[in-house]
Amino acid sequence: MTAERIDGKAFAAGLRARVAEQVAAFTAAAGRKPALAVVLVGEDPASQVYVRNKHRAAEEAGFESIEIRLPADTGQADLLAEVARLNADPGVDGILVQLPLPEQIASQAVILAIDPDKDVDGFHPVNVGRLGLGTPGFVPCTPRGCMMLLRDRLGDLSGLHAVVVGRSNIVGKPMAQLLLAANATVTIAHSRTRSLPVLCRTADILVAAVGRPEMIQGDWIKPGATVIDVGVNRVPNPDDPQKTRLVGDVHYDSAVQRAGAITPVPGGVGPMTIAVLLANTLDAACRRAG
Ligand code: GUN
Repeated sequence: MTAERIDGKAFAAGLRARVAEQVAAFTAAAGRKPALAVVLVGEDPASQVYVRNKHRAAEEAGFESIEIRLPADTGQADLLAEVARLNADPGVDGILVQLPLPEQIASQAVILAIDPDKDVDGFHPVNVGRLGLGTPGFVPCTPRGCMMLLRDRLGDLSGLHAVVVGRSNIVGKPMAQLLLAANATVTIAHSRTRSLPVLCRTADILVAAVGRPEMIQGDWIKPGATVIDVGVNRVPNPDDPQKTRLVGDVHYDSAVQRAGAITPVPGGVGPMTIAVLLANTLDAACRRAG
């Protein structure tokens, strides 16, 4: 059996196009563009690439994209003041502070300062709570994107056994909540879980979000299972040691022999994250417009 490749890039392009249509309608009705503010502190190269991509995608979809760059030595008080200014700005619908932040700034304090109704990352405790309760709020972009891919492939997830490997606040925990809300039977596993291969083999849906390159092997996968690989790991390229390549948390070549469907890396979950950020920002604008 060879797994179907879940084309996140194509799905994300479709989602972005649908968001762009609704952004145009919002702009015509409200007389202003919905606006996303992205704050980047410092010059972390990976963060710079992410922020540039978010900025470009937002502009392409018709949003007003506000990029705020602060120096690496910015103090916590100054960043909190910037967040307060964006909270109070009626022209700003969504606020995203790119993580990680420099070590002199406590990320939790910054996340807590963002207006929950502009928190398009879904990281504020109010939105974490709303997700747990199943009341409307913002859902973190990557797990929401994974759910869209799962629903597109599987339809109803009721009663399926989902194993989420990874327990981060950004992916693993919200992913488990979303799967539970969709009536899946959910197990959260992590680096200390015993007999992880045996557990993974019981999964109809396997979500890998541990950040360990190619940890999950093909023979850990139940034949026919749907595999969502959230991992993005840069490793040396064996063919050319001067270069690197991107791999997921799943060993793709062996997994593809067992799974029913699998997301590739790159081109699977990755492109969904930005597309969902745009969808969340549009939601924020629509809610604020009442
Ligand atoms: N850094 C890596 N991923 C993310 C994300 O989804 N949101 C924010 N704010 N920072 C990140």
